[in-house]
Amino acid sequence: MLGAAALPMVRAANAQERPRNIVVSSANGVAACAKAMEVLKAGGDTLDAVVAGVNIVELDPNDTSVGYGGLPNEDGVVELDASCMHGPTRRGGAVGAIRGIKTPSKIAQLVMAETDHMMLVGEGALRFAKAYGFPEEDLLTDKSRLAWRMWKREMRDRTGHSNWESGIDGPPKAPKMAELKKAFPGFDEETLAWAYEVATNPPHGTINCMALNEKGEMSAVTTTSGLAWKIAGRLGDSPIIGGGLWLDQDVGGAGSTGRGEENLRVCGAHTIIEKMRQGMSPREAALDALKRVSRNFDDDRKRLGELDLSFYALRKDGEYAGASLWDKRSAGAAGGAQFAVCAADGQSHRENSVYLYERK
Ligand code: GLY
Repeated sequence: MLGAAALPMVRAANAQERPRNIVVSSANGVAACAKAMEVLKAGGDTLDAVVAGVNIVELDPNDTSVGYGGLPNEDGVVELDASCMHGPTRRGGAVGAIRGIKTPSKIAQLVMAETDHMMLVGEGALRFAKAYGFPEEDLLTDKSRLAWRMWKREMRDRTGHSNWESGIDGPPKAPKMAELKKAFPGFDEETLAWAYEVATNPPHGTINCMALNEKGEMSAVTTTSGLAWKIAGRLGDSPIIGGGLWLDQDVGGAGSTGRGEENLRVCGAHTIIEKMRQGMSPREAALDALKRVSRNFDDDRKRLGELDLSFYALRKDGEYAGASLWDKRSAGAAGGAQFAVCAADGQSHRENSVYLYERK
């Protein structure tokens, strides 16, 4: 376990006497943090700020883990989850498995602000969004549809047979890339290699974003398309208030990205806030939650190697941390353990997370 070994990589504490504007998010949120900071600087509400930030990622067809262009369920249908919490009013809202709406974070905010419910799912969530004028749209892009078809093609029985490619009557197979180029004409090699990777190692991205303003107010949001190729109706941790997101105005906020099922088994975001309430730093609290995940696997690194999970924590005094189970993401996924930060005086940028284990 690398808790101590990882210390030199830890971003020095950012504790401060007076609150200042600061936004923290998962690594895919550099633009989101910058946008949220813009809203904070203009005097906007902290929840409006983080929702405006993550909307950029939700609407980005190239982020295949969130919103429009997110990888679909096993039926080829994109189902999105989101939750939000508003520190000053101590309220929250969430939507789960909502289809056809590009910005589920906005719907979660509406559930919070305009209803006396906290969570809407599926068909009801879509009807609610449409009642507020949101158009129902096709959330699949050419790229995410390609990845879904690739996944179906790569699903095989024990003899290696797949219904989604020509059978024994077909010509002998070409080398893999040539075969894929023939099966999916019109896509370049890089896109095909990406689609093959996500088809065979289903990812779960997500963005979590949290803000603190100069008045000491805080809010947080998490939004995702969830686990690729999931069973229709599957919810991960992102829409579960207390799991993929928690914020207590007296303490701070926390959120997660990665394998939602494993986060739910430790109720990660709530656990982190309670640990911070008891005096742990954001870094210590997030690592402690990851140790609980590890404990659920008897600290067996081989089995833990199958999953990625990251936490982000922002304390009310402005100290923050990102913490990941592993220093690098699992097979094929690019990048190490990082998160994004934007402070009022600087550019939005990525920083290294602390981590529990090193992949060999
Ligand atoms: N953390 C996102 C998910 O598991 O759905």
